[in-house]
Amino acid sequence: MTNSSKSTTILIKNAQINSGGNQLQPQELLIQAGKITAMATEIPIPANFSGQIFDAEHHLVSPGLVDLHVHLRDPGQTYKETIATGSQAAARGGFTYIGAMPNLTPAPDTPAQLAVMNQRNQTEGVVHIGQYATLTTDRRGDQLVDFAGLAATGVLAFSNDGSGIQTADTMYRAMLAAKAVNKPVAAHVEDDSLRHGGVLNAGAKARELGLPGLLEVVQTAQLARDLVLAQATGVHYHVCHVATAAELTLIRQAKAAGVQVTCEVSPHHLLLADQDIPGDDANYKMNPPLRTESDRQAMVAGLLDGTIDCIATDHAPHSQAEKEQGFRQAPFGIVGSETAFALLYTKFVQTGIFTLAQLLNWLSQRPAALFQLNQVGRLVVGGPADLALFDLDHTAPIMVQTFASKGQNSPFIGWPVAGHTVATMVAGQFVYQRQEVQR
Ligand code: DOR
Ligand code: ZN
Repeated sequence: MTNSSKSTTILIKNAQINSGGNQLQPQELLIQAGKITAMATEIPIPANFSGQIFDAEHHLVSPGLVDLHVHLRDPGQTYKETIATGSQAAARGGFTYIGAMPNLTPAPDTPAQLAVMNQRNQTEGVVHIGQYATLTTDRRGDQLVDFAGLAATGVLAFSNDGSGIQTADTMYRAMLAAKAVNKPVAAHVEDDSLRHGGVLNAGAKARELGLPGLLEVVQTAQLARDLVLAQATGVHYHVCHVATAAELTLIRQAKAAGVQVTCEVSPHHLLLADQDIPGDDANYKMNPPLRTESDRQAMVAGLLDGTIDCIATDHAPHSQAEKEQGFRQAPFGIVGSETAFALLYTKFVQTGIFTLAQLLNWLSQRPAALFQLNQVGRLVVGGPADLALFDLDHTAPIMVQTFASKGQNSPFIGWPVAGHTVATMVAGQFVYQRQEVQR
């Protein structure tokens, strides 16, 4: 981010803030030198005011959203995404802080390469980017990274996302090392020996399409192992993208037993089940796969009962050519940054299943607190002016032509949604402003 206009004063007039439940109340904010310096129901325009006045037109102002799980592909696969386009996509979704996964080439697996990434993220990203480092060298084998050196360089957490750690001893030693530097292990749980070449949930849809299925034990067998290891080591163990009721049963038991375990769920696992897959369309192919409708319902219940701690998108851009290969050949993953808030607001808040306050908490304050991110995910006087404005009233279809991401691989194109982002601000500067005026 550039600091060029950080000194600009901006007065945001006529916004509305969520004050619990679904309540909205008028809110105006004064932004100076990148910080929020005043918040009140009404802030009169001072005499001789020389700053910018932004009329929020009664849209919702929220803390900038926080996404602990995105793939930026840069370096290594910049035809899919770059730090610039991926962070612009985040900004367009109302996110001001993202956690970037380390499945990159080269991977951030040494302090030197992590330092390169931290520098590039800061200069090329339009939002705040926390960088994950890998658990093992190049995400392979059993050679652990330099946890102390990476922590000292500035790491968000450690993860081999994209694949599981195949041996218990490697995970055990990684957990001890992460615990020693007080950083979370963010686990993609997947036992390769149980994959059996599967490409979607093992069940009726896989049989209907004649495609190999993924059993739920692919995740649960490794998750059960890891929960035992997390208890033995005392590490903060964060489970990425939970998708089955069986995983929640294990996590619920572990939480009750005092294991320091947290977890995230993706919007797609809250919104879709395998029965919704319309045919051999790889825009429905992701890892973990869409599970059953009762698993999907368990994800919703898991958020509401606190078993699931937060929502993270797993934004995973791929090229159109790759995704056109169909379920057998296409890579796993879908984009999520630009559709998450609007989809979840429309499908869960407008329908009365979640309150707006709950949804915002799972997308901002809660993930920031989980990873001990100071001054992230909250709107407070004296804090950074990282915020988003959302249009809760106007419903319009999700249009791929408007994506900032290079990825167009989404099963949600055309879905009519409310909650489109109007503007996103990072450190007092607009990093996204809606062009198309929709009333
Ligand atoms: O669907 C996925 N895509 N799941 C992962 O774990 C990795 C990701 C990717 O990097 O494409
Ligand atoms: Zn993953």
